[in-house]
Amino acid sequence: MSAVVIVGAQWGDEGKGKVVDVLTEKADVVARFQGGHNAGHTVVINEQKFILHLIPSGILHKNKLCIIGNGVVIEPAALIDEMKGLKQRGVDVRSNLLISKNAHLIMPYHIAMDNARERVRGAGKIGTTGRGIGPTYVDKMARTGIRVIDLYRPEVFREKIETNLGEINYLLKNRFRTKGFRAAEIFAQYRAYARKLARYVADTDIIVNEMIEKKKKILFEGAQGTLLDVDHGTYPFVTSSSSVAGGACTGLGVGPTRISRVLGVVKAYTTRVGGGPFPTEMTGDIGEQFRQKGGEFGATTGRPRRCGWLDFVGLRHAMRVNGLTGIAITKLDILDALPTIRVCVAYRRGKTLYRDFPKETSLLHTSVPVYEEMEGWNESTVGIKRFEKLPKNAQKYIRRIEETLGVKVDMISTGQRRNELIVLRNQF
Ligand code: GDP
Ligand code: IMO
Ligand code: MG
Repeated sequence: MSAVVIVGAQWGDEGKGKVVDVLTEKADVVARFQGGHNAGHTVVINEQKFILHLIPSGILHKNKLCIIGNGVVIEPAALIDEMKGLKQRGVDVRSNLLISKNAHLIMPYHIAMDNARERVRGAGKIGTTGRGIGPTYVDKMARTGIRVIDLYRPEVFREKIETNLGEINYLLKNRFRTKGFRAAEIFAQYRAYARKLARYVADTDIIVNEMIEKKKKILFEGAQGTLLDVDHGTYPFVTSSSSVAGGACTGLGVGPTRISRVLGVVKAYTTRVGGGPFPTEMTGDIGEQFRQKGGEFGATTGRPRRCGWLDFVGLRHAMRVNGLTGIAITKLDILDALPTIRVCVAYRRGKTLYRDFPKETSLLHTSVPVYEEMEGWNESTVGIKRFEKLPKNAQKYIRRIEETLGVKVDMISTGQRRNELIVLRNQF
């Protein structure tokens, strides 16, 4: 049995796209299980850069089955655009992609609600990607959501849009003082999407489970990261789905007994985009240096990412709630020129030390990180492929992460490209 879940261990953008892409070489199937086109997963092949939003990062390899699971929320226009963009660059999406019948659809009014809610939040805004993710999951849980399968029952589809607009238009007009929507327009627009997507729609839960029975090698590709998870993240500054490993089970219809490994992707430092607490955030020049050197600008929205030191408090939490069997460290090369490197071992408020990630958002806002310093290596690690070839202090940094988290480092990424990688343990 070889089903490996790949999850982000921080606030997203850890380099999941690259990790999934390199692991796809030995996999048969790659499946997304949550989130939507709020995700931006970058894969660099030679001089070509691809950013995947909804389509699994495995699509760039030939003949790998890629699945968008039921736990994902799909904006059909965004998906069609992404398919088109890939096709224009010679990627065969047509023969390799399947979409779950019971994935929920992002509707135009979800996007309007997402932006309207953000506007009224003012200074306390979450800093969402504005893609309609939250309101779509709200409807899913409220049992008023519209699923992919509904696209193919026109009567039902139209009725659902009308019912939902009854409430949503009221809010948009009276509460948020903005324009409402007309059911007929949405209906016509989505009927056109339905025709374009029809050939991809499938019972993906049955297919994934059959693949597992047949001993195929499967990757479950997470989006966002543990600290953005709706249950385990820095609520309410989170996304609206289960981005932890458990989400792979509900988001694809696979039992926990079928999962063989959980690989956590850990950036060698920390970034966060959007609002919310970030204890190890670097302010001033050093933060800006990281942003420039690491190219830390959102792959989806282009927003500058906030940068900070590695945070063991957050990572121990990620280790626990995901049950990580290994980690992949990325962007080690971004630390190359630093004389000293800080790691956060606890948070402190007043005289109290916190070693476990606090649930109180206010505590996260008001506590300060307790750092330990490590010597840097002041040498390039770009493209190094063997652990022994890493500078001694870089090796120490990696071992320190292993020891603190009590989990093996399975992989170290030393650059954007596919072959800039150290593999310490195979996943399949
Ligand atoms: P994801 O959302 O987790 O897939 O990550 P993003 O693609 O949003 O952000 C990660 C960024 O770091 C992308 O630009 C990657 O190309 C880049 N990247 C990944 N691994 C490495 C690495 O080891 N070194 C460097 N320099 N860049 C990397
Ligand atoms: P990948 O998969 C980083 C953040 C947003 C915002 C919060 C809620 O590329 O790692 P949402 O639009 O989901 O309601 O926004 O979550 N966010 C991400 N941050 N990487 C992502 O995805 C993200 N997807 C959402 O910035 O703070
Ligand atoms: Mg990203």
